[in-house]
Amino acid sequence: MRTLVTGAAGSIGTVLVSGLTDRGHDVFGLDRSTAPDGYGDRWYTVDVTDTDAVDAVFADLGRSGGLDAVVHLAGIPDEASLTDELHSHVVSTATLLDAMVAHGVGRIVYASSNHAVGRTPRSELLTTDVRPRPDTFYGVAKVAAEALLSLYADRHAIDAVALRIGSFLPQPETRRGLSTWLSHDDAVRMVHAALVAPDPGYAVIYGVSDNTRGWWDLGPGRTLGYEPQDDAEAFADRIPERDEDDVEAGHVGGPFATERYHRPAR
Ligand SMILES: NC(=O)c1ccc[n+]([C@@H]2O[C@H](COP(=O)([O-])OP(=O)(O)OC[C@H]3O[C@@H](n4cnc5c(N)ncnc54)[C@H](O)[C@@H]3O)[C@@H](O)[C@H]2O)c1
Repeated sequence: MRTLVTGAAGSIGTVLVSGLTDRGHDVFGLDRSTAPDGYGDRWYTVDVTDTDAVDAVFADLGRSGGLDAVVHLAGIPDEASLTDELHSHVVSTATLLDAMVAHGVGRIVYASSNHAVGRTPRSELLTTDVRPRPDTFYGVAKVAAEALLSLYADRHAIDAVALRIGSFLPQPETRRGLSTWLSHDDAVRMVHAALVAPDPGYAVIYGVSDNTRGWWDLGPGRTLGYEPQDDAEAFADRIPERDEDDVEAGHVGGPFATERYHRPAR
């Protein structure tokens, strides 16, 4: 599949560009940063909130064989001001969706976050039909970006898969991470599944590995063909206990749901 990956220079992007290429996808990178070494000319140095520049990227790809899908990762992966979060996650997603409609691109896979439901108290199983319950302005922006995907799926029949990613790391680093870890290889498996699943429509899945201590519902991901293979438990002996572990275990969003992240919107 000819696939444009935004945020391709970032931590998830670099893993996905090589992993999706290995799985046979024809991958093009977009980032406001220049291409990492070895990326050649399959790269666009563009701000994904710049409507004209993004439209020019789609036009360029259209001339050289078209585009089948977008994997949208570009954005601030942390808490910031409400204004910056909305611009980074909502305006960027809208810019891409409009370009997709204009250029006939039918699928987007979006890096949402567990922080879209981060204030949900920890329970036995976190399903994808819990109410949106953000823990931060970052989470608010992810909820709004998911809503945009739903709107464009309904209006324009775009296939839109939102991945509520847990903790993407080479290996888990905290006790919470033993539940929320997403391994590099599973991230590639998940995005590949979201790209090739037949007719997903609008779908939300949790982006975690098959962790023994996991409590997020992997069913919707499996329905799309995402079969995680890794388990954070293999690292459990190496993870020291910390004073923050108990409070971080209270809500889905862990540290983001604690008082440390309280701040006024204005
Ligand atoms: N890393 C995680 O564990 C995790 C968990 C949940 C969700 N996510 C989401 O996944 C996505 C990628 O996260 P990451 O950890 O790779 O972050 P990262 O900061 O490593 O990478 C983000 C990339 O996006 C680029 N970028 C940011 N704003 C841009 C813009 N306006 N135009 C073009 N490029 C822009 C940056 O230059 C960077 O290369 C983010 O949307 C983040 O919210 C990440």
